Amino acid sequence: HPKVTECKGYRIPSPFSAETAKWQYDNWNPTNNDVLVASFPKTGTTWTIQIVKSVIYKDDEKMMDLMKFINANNSHLESGTPKNYEIMLKLPWKRKIWGTHLPAPLINMERLKKNGCKIIYVMRNPKDQVVSWFNMNKNMPFNKTEEMAKNFPAEWNAFLETLVNGKQPVFSKEGEWYPDHILSYYPYRNDDNVLFLMYEEMKKDPAKEIKKIANFLGVKRSDDEIDELVEATSFQSMKKEASKTMSQMSFFRKGEVADWKNQFTVAQSELMDEKFNEKLSGIDIKFTYE
Ligand code: A3P
Repeated sequence: HPKVTECKGYRIPSPFSAETAKWQYDNWNPTNNDVLVASFPKTGTTWTIQIVKSVIYKDDEKMMDLMKFINANNSHLESGTPKNYEIMLKLPWKRKIWGTHLPAPLINMERLKKNGCKIIYVMRNPKDQVVSWFNMNKNMPFNKTEEMAKNFPAEWNAFLETLVNGKQPVFSKEGEWYPDHILSYYPYRNDDNVLFLMYEEMKKDPAKEIKKIANFLGVKRSDDEIDELVEATSFQSMKKEASKTMSQMSFFRKGEVADWKNQFTVAQSELMDEKFNEKLSGIDIKFTYE
């Protein structure tokens, strides 16, 4: 049964929980060999994690196989519950790769910085994010309970309404939504251990962005290797690979930029611009919508 718990005012939907968030804050002690991919849901998390894994372990067939096996059996291993943490520590990683949707205040950013743990924060234009999220919710057990149905309506107009008014309890405080998640990480963007990425830029020039990731992680990859990585982490390759193994819901729908145009009315697009920019007007991040 999906449910929502609260940590420092942030509403956390299952399978994640306030308890594990708090546990992670207090106990998780990654080193400078660890990488954390942080993101809001549906912004390119799965893709970025796969790029990081491949950049680091490309030549290590055993590790690539092991990670495939883990993906097929526990898609949330990276996300830091005490039990998963134990498993992560037992695996033969040279470098551990983690993922989180928690906002920055629920991550012990000071400790991670002190330890030199690498953080990659990936962002996506909020209109495509919403469409991706809406489609995922349609296929989730979320809507089955009455309380959840109120926050995540099955009908698009109502869904967008609850979303932009911060009614959806998704790693946010009451009244908050995706822009607030970005704002929470924004102050850290220039830290040495932090890299900000954009889904649309990864789509436009994956080789360039993968090179950026490799450099950030201190991994040397030749141009030929980068080309192989582009191919191995393309939407088509990842979707094909997942269809062989992944038992649960799919994280591969369309994988495109500007699918929002098939969903938003002009008025809704304007409302989105207005609501989003209201929160982010003061910051130096420009999204690509085409
Ligand atoms: P769409 O629903 O628009 O297709 P997350 O992993 O954060 O849940 O994000 C899921 C979104 O990323 C989905 O978007 C999914 O299709 C897309 N995605 C997954 N792998 C991708 C890849 N290799 N290239 C481009 N997009 C990808």
